[in-house]
This record gives sequence, structure tokens and C-alpha cells, in this order.
Amino acid sequence: MLKLAVLISGGGSNLQALIAAAEDPSFPARIVCVGSDTDAPGLAHAEAAGIPTFVVRPRDYHSREEWGQVFAAAIQEHGVGTGPEPGLVVSAGLMRILPGGFVREFSPFLINTHPALLPNFPGAHAVRDALAAGAPQTGVTVHIIDEGVDTGPVLRQASVDVRDGETEDELHERIKQLERPLLVATVREIAERHLDLEAVAAGRDPGPA
Ligand code: GRF
Repeated sequence: MLKLAVLISGGGSNLQALIAAAEDPSFPARIVCVGSDTDAPGLAHAEAAGIPTFVVRPRDYHSREEWGQVFAAAIQEHGVGTGPEPGLVVSAGLMRILPGGFVREFSPFLINTHPALLPNFPGAHAVRDALAAGAPQTGVTVHIIDEGVDTGPVLRQASVDVRDGETEDELHERIKQLERPLLVATVREIAERHLDLEAVAAGRDPGPA
């Protein structure tokens, strides 16, 4: 059984999809904690499901690195990132760049979901940037987190056609309809060892089929 730590900053609909999937006893992963950098509304999904939560605020620390150390330690207290079965850290809407020390602590068992077809439109405004660029297609990418901003190896992607005149919110919602099942399916593949994060990170696996 793969232990998951899920990290969020917002409404947590991706978290909610993972919680719902993990309620099925046949799902090969369990969420052991949910962490945030802020009082994210989505933490309520975890609380309702009886999953421990924690908040570590960057403003309470002198540096990003120091914040990252405390955030990492809070995850490790729940048994993720330690021992022979390190589990998996899932950034599912955490709107914060994770510092290098944090990434090295968990790599490569550290994934993110991003609302664009990377390497296109990295960063915090991916949906807005895709619309502004007039991209005919965009989508979602689940990838391993490295020390860059949305630059880590791609695991799985799904694409969506951009519609004429749609707003950022409308397009983001359509992306999230693909994102939630893609994230759940990718976690399942990792848990079932059909997707080998160490091999992908080392370049021994080409990643998306
Ligand atoms: C997702 O689209 C994620 O990729 C992006 O922020 C959104 C979070 O949505 N970084 P939610 O909080 O899971 O509803």
C-alpha cells in the first residue's frame, strides 16, 4: 500500500478526487496526511475524511529553505519520505515553489499536477498564459518535481481543445475535469509499479507512452 502525502493551497478538488479513489479498498494507495502553506479551504475535505492535516506558513520562517525543512519534517512525521517504503508526495494545487532541500529530500517520489501541456506554459498562470498565447490546445501534465519550475520529467498528459471566447475560469474547469482522473490514474500506476519514478528520473524510461 503506497502512503501518500498530498499538498494543497486552494479548494482541493484534486485532493477530493484522490480521497474518493482511496475510499475504494482496492485502490493501492492511502492518504496519510494533507499539508498546506496556508489555511486552504480544501483542508476541509481531509478533515471530513479523518485524514490528519498540517499548515506550515512561509511567513513564519526566515527563508524558503527553512520553511521547506519544516514542511518536509511535518510530512516525514507521517511516515512519508522515510524508511524502505518512502511513499509519495503529491503536490495537487500547492501554489508554492518547493525549495531545493525539500525536493532533494523526497526526489523522485515527489510529483506535481500542472494545468498545461509542459514544457508549454510553466508557472503560476498556466491557463491564462495559454489563452493569451492563442494556443489551440492546452491540457494537464503530471510530472516529477525537480529543482526547476515545472521542469521535471513528464509522466502523463491529457489535452483539451481551447474554445473560442472562453474565459480562464471556464478553461481551467474543463482542464480540471481531465486533471482529476489523470492524477488518480497516475498515482495508481505508481502504486502498482507500472510507472517507475526512479527509472523515469534517471532517464531509463521514456515516460509517457
Ligand atoms: C489545479 O489545476 C492545479 O494543477 C493547479 O491548481 C489547481 C488546483 O485545483 N496548480 P484544486 O485546488 O485541486 O481544485
